[in-house]
Amino acid sequence: MNINTIILAAGKGTRMKSNMAKVLHKLAGKSMLQRVVESVTSLHSKVTVVFGHDGEQVKKSLTGFNVNWAEQTEQLGTGHAVQQAEAQIKEDDIVLILYGDVPLIRTETLTKMVSCVDQSSMALLTVDLDQPAGYGRIVRENLKVTKIVEEKDASELQKIITEVNTGIMAVRGGQLKTWLNRLDCNNAQSEYYLTDIIEMAVLDGIAVNTVQPKSCEEVQGVNSKLQLNQLERFYQKNKAEELMEQGVTLADILRIDIRGELTIAGNDIYIDINNVFEGTNKLGDNVHIGPNCSLLNVTLADNVVVKANSVLENCVVGQNCSIGPFARIRPGTVLSAGAHIGNFVEVKKSTVGEGSKISHLSYIGDAKIGANVNIGAGTITCNYDGVNKHQTVIEDGAFIGSGTQLVAPVKVGQNATLGAGTTLSKDANAEVLTVTRAKQISVNSWKRPTKK
Ligand code: UD1
Ligand code: CA
Repeated sequence: MNINTIILAAGKGTRMKSNMAKVLHKLAGKSMLQRVVESVTSLHSKVTVVFGHDGEQVKKSLTGFNVNWAEQTEQLGTGHAVQQAEAQIKEDDIVLILYGDVPLIRTETLTKMVSCVDQSSMALLTVDLDQPAGYGRIVRENLKVTKIVEEKDASELQKIITEVNTGIMAVRGGQLKTWLNRLDCNNAQSEYYLTDIIEMAVLDGIAVNTVQPKSCEEVQGVNSKLQLNQLERFYQKNKAEELMEQGVTLADILRIDIRGELTIAGNDIYIDINNVFEGTNKLGDNVHIGPNCSLLNVTLADNVVVKANSVLENCVVGQNCSIGPFARIRPGTVLSAGAHIGNFVEVKKSTVGEGSKISHLSYIGDAKIGANVNIGAGTITCNYDGVNKHQTVIEDGAFIGSGTQLVAPVKVGQNATLGAGTTLSKDANAEVLTVTRAKQISVNSWKRPTKK
């Protein structure tokens, strides 16, 4: 039994007031369309996206995903949209109809729906709403679904019905094809309604099984930036609750954003307010993250402390390291155990050995720093000659005086000391003091200028 998912994504999304196709707007760091595509990954489903506007951009957004595309040049209704994907449908498929602007649909719900489908039954996802206005209503007789009426076609009595159509359904491919061929547009909106297939199913003796979502947010469609944000907040609050269930202490459940995978690999993790986690991050035991930090693809080992306002990207941090406040750790950086990166320090594509300290106001780029190195305030690796990048090597136990410039490529030997203010352009020998400094003079005859 093959599952075949058709995702409707041709709507223009006028109310987003955006130049970008609606389904490309992001929820927790991924486009809504990508979220829908990923909801069927574990079902090993074939996927066809029905697109209308911005075809190039929409297609580009799913590079790397195995999806088929069907264009709907004119939006003549949801039934018409599914018809555009008809060529992709096989008799024995279980066809799942999803929507590119309903981003929080859960795989569990879809699995349940698929399990309700066989030769004599289909599945429809419905939800009870206090305010059903605008939705298609589920009409039942003797508890059995008989049809769906759209709001605009509904009688006053039908409008009282609170069970509504989410639009999501699962049906046998052969049956769907027959019903699609029978659709017409004799209704208040002159559209081809997909919902009309429900009445056809009932007339053909196919039972319509209804399934309900876990929450109404799961089936909420997005038509505006406000609705997108409501779902974003719902998603983030759920994520925060999951973290707390895993033992993480959050300073505020409403002030953390996770736009990717955050792996909790330890106990007693503390996360202060306003932290943003993007991509794939992993935190070990006792990790403490101060307020206002941003982490993108970062691994923090046990007992790491990241102090306020630090930005970390594509880096690996060993245990007992301390970073920040106001530090920037850039891609390709590896900090060994116990390293200390202080305030206003930028480290790029460098390795820092065990116990080494870069405590204040420094730029370290393309450097290989050994263990127990002390780098004084205001040290700069001059790694770029305007054309190429060059490496700086600082061996174990070296002491770099404050205000030093290391003109790469250059090497500082083991236990070497560089005097403050040195501009190092040749290698510094191990174990000795190296200093480049103009001779200090005093000019006794000098007078301060006076105001004219
Ligand atoms: C549809 C349902 C309604 C349901 C509601 C849930 C029909 C006829 N009605 O109504 O019962 O309660 O969704 O939100 O199906 N789309 C296309 N091509 C089209 C038309 C729509 O791709 O020609 C896509 C839209 O991009 C959107 C989705 O289908 O993602 C639903 O379309 P929309 O116009 O919002 O349907 P509703 O009138 O709200
Ligand atoms: Ca709608």
